[in-house]
Amino acid sequence: MEFLLDTADIAAVRKYNDIYDIAGVTTNPVILSRAGGEFLPTLYKIREIIKDKQLHVQVTASTPDEMEKEAEAIVKNLGKDVYIKVPVNEMGIKTIKNLKENGYRVTATVIYTLGQAILASSVGADYVAPYFNHICDHVGDAEKIIGEMAEIFKVQNKSTKILAASFRNTSQIITSILSGAEAVTLSPEMFSSMMNIPSVDATISKFSKAWSDMYGEKKIYEL
Ligand code: G3P
Repeated sequence: MEFLLDTADIAAVRKYNDIYDIAGVTTNPVILSRAGGEFLPTLYKIREIIKDKQLHVQVTASTPDEMEKEAEAIVKNLGKDVYIKVPVNEMGIKTIKNLKENGYRVTATVIYTLGQAILASSVGADYVAPYFNHICDHVGDAEKIIGEMAEIFKVQNKSTKILAASFRNTSQIITSILSGAEAVTLSPEMFSSMMNIPSVDATISKFSKAWSDMYGEKKIYEL
């Protein structure tokens, strides 16, 4: 099970990389524009923080030739182990096929349907990224689609992994994992909502109070 961080916010990358054992960071043009910095300097900073963990960077062009040139530039600047994210339409599939023939790591992204996932896997995508919330908004039952995707990859003995993305609540994350996603990429807000549980905080406070009633500010190592 892999947890990735879906952000280009440097402070958030530093914070969540420090707390959790994240497998890496995923970005896309919207995430990078939200973060506000320049494309390469921002990615260099992320690389410096996460060291050799996964970094997923999306191409922005729309023809295979241009997307391949972008992939070449990304890898030249950020290292050959970067996952090149390619949105899946016909031109995307052709690009993924060419990139895989040339030894790139590839994440097939903007996956809304089983058809996209199957075809991306057939040309060798390392990851497919179904957008849970977008699927719910535009297509239908994300739980069913991710579950069937996992089943097909298993039956067909595919090495393509499911990297579920685009969540609005914790239950969508858990559903993706239960349905067979090997990886999920979460915004900083989703990471914090998984741990922001008032009843848990209240119980932890009770423990602290019981201790301070007995020993004040002293810690166990000071007794
Ligand atoms: O990783 C994909 C994700 O960033 C898309 O998320 O915010 O459009 O649901 P969103």
